[in-house]
Amino acid sequence: MTKTQEQKIQELIELRERAKLGGGEKRIAAQHKKGKFTARERIDMLLDEGSFEEFDMFVSHRCIDFGLEKESYLSDGVVTGYGTIDGRIVYVFSQDFTVFGGSLSEMYAAKICKIMDMAMKVGAPVIGINDSGGARIQEGVKSLGGYADIFQRNILASGVIPQISAIFGPCAGGAVYSPALTDFIVMSRNTSYMFVTGPKVVKTVTGETVTADQLGGADVHASKSGVAHFVSDTEEEGIQLIRKLLSYLPQNNLEDPPVAPCDDPIDRLEDRLNEIIPEVANKPYDVLDVIEAIADYGEYLEVHRHYAPNIVTGFARFNGMSVGIVANQPKYMAGVLDINASRKAARFVRFCDAFNIPIVTLVDVPGFLPGTGQEYNGIILHGAKLLFAYGEATVPKVTVILRKAYGGAYDVMSSKHLRGDINYAWPGAEIAVMGPKGAIEVLLSRELETIEDEKAKADFLLKKENEYKDKFANPYVAAKFGYLDDVIEPRNTRFRIVRALQSLQTKKDLNPPRKHSNLPL
Ligand code: HXC
Repeated sequence: MTKTQEQKIQELIELRERAKLGGGEKRIAAQHKKGKFTARERIDMLLDEGSFEEFDMFVSHRCIDFGLEKESYLSDGVVTGYGTIDGRIVYVFSQDFTVFGGSLSEMYAAKICKIMDMAMKVGAPVIGINDSGGARIQEGVKSLGGYADIFQRNILASGVIPQISAIFGPCAGGAVYSPALTDFIVMSRNTSYMFVTGPKVVKTVTGETVTADQLGGADVHASKSGVAHFVSDTEEEGIQLIRKLLSYLPQNNLEDPPVAPCDDPIDRLEDRLNEIIPEVANKPYDVLDVIEAIADYGEYLEVHRHYAPNIVTGFARFNGMSVGIVANQPKYMAGVLDINASRKAARFVRFCDAFNIPIVTLVDVPGFLPGTGQEYNGIILHGAKLLFAYGEATVPKVTVILRKAYGGAYDVMSSKHLRGDINYAWPGAEIAVMGPKGAIEVLLSRELETIEDEKAKADFLLKKENEYKDKFANPYVAAKFGYLDDVIEPRNTRFRIVRALQSLQTKKDLNPPRKHSNLPL
């Protein structure tokens, strides 16, 4: 008997309802019991209300091994489609742990690839929510191939559309590499982990005993490995972070970032900045106080907050314009550049450059961190990454030297010589090859050897250090050669940066044609 129209519509409704149940009510309850949301609940929280358009709800796997021909679920373990965030289109996939533990099959991978291809055509970000047991074991090499199909798309989309990953459950084995290829990773505390090999294999191979959380939990990746850019206490918080992050980003590499309305006066004077630098040169202050004082409404979104805190990276706005801020942080390790800080900032600078986000650099750096630990692990190469990133960047670059800019670190931190567009310094800035003490010990080592009396030696050192400071440790030598465009009063910094950014809005700069550069990896 043929079905009536009404029956056909009813069938569609029922199929939809079935698809929405994923692996069934029992497994949904188990998911909730673990303190986790389902794939669809996460999408609902992420997107503007009612904006989600789902694709491929009726897809199911076509595996006939290990009894899978008798077990299949509509959607096949991943929910995909598009919707809007603050009215702007985004593509999304959300792995459904209730279906075969969110494990990835051939058809599941095809669903993800489909929305990634559409995002590339449309020029819109992709957000992936990960919660999966990895390759679907029954599908064998089809699953491995599916992963690689996604990796390839991650690679081709890199620098074209923003790609953001949320890790809200397991993410192990080769599965970690898709998030790793994206621009930002958000991990939720207590419910997520990422590792290439899990605790059991670690125990067998190295004899180490670790828990999943110790090996690859959110805090480990946010502070030790730098794999995670953001860490959240809850999934809701992680999702809000993604929404906020997107508000600073353009839809793709051909667009400019959105401009937010701004009532914060651009000429707001901040008297406290005139006093923020301590009189004693090696005393710390918090560079976040400077950022708060100069950015619109004192707001910024810090990226990699817990990793290499000796450098700060984050997004902020100046008169509504989105910028990436890179700032040495004197509060931690005197703001020195080490391997982790160099890698962190280099990646951030390259992201901003890829997506037309101007870079504001606040400099207070005593140099690169000395020692075998750093040298053996390649500070030369890692420091070169940051140098390379700044030198390669063609977006507007505005630099303010707040205090120290010593040695190679002066060059690296968006100096004029690396195509810094507008470079300012505060009047207390010290720009030289090295700090006064080190410089005098090198320059006058012979004279120092001839002085036997300790007091006389100390007096001589102090006198020479002061002479050095007067002559070199100020901004006017650099300003004399045009390496600085101006020396500015600290309290005017917001206004001067806004003006500089406004003047650079139509800036054009190019790199020579080439297949690609050879960044020192
Ligand atoms: C098929 C899987 C699965 C998988 C889990 N399930 N992982 N099915 N393939 N990879 C199923 C389980 O059989 C179970 O089905 C359901 O999902 C939930 O799993 P549980 O074990 O009950 O959940 P939990 O105790 O929370 O443990 C989650 C887990 C564990 C830690 C992820 O399931 C696990 O260790 N799975 C195997 C992980 C793994 O080794 N994956 C391959 C990694 S290698 P029922 O029917 O009971 O609900 C890899 C290579 C990628 O991914 C390479 C890319 C290049």
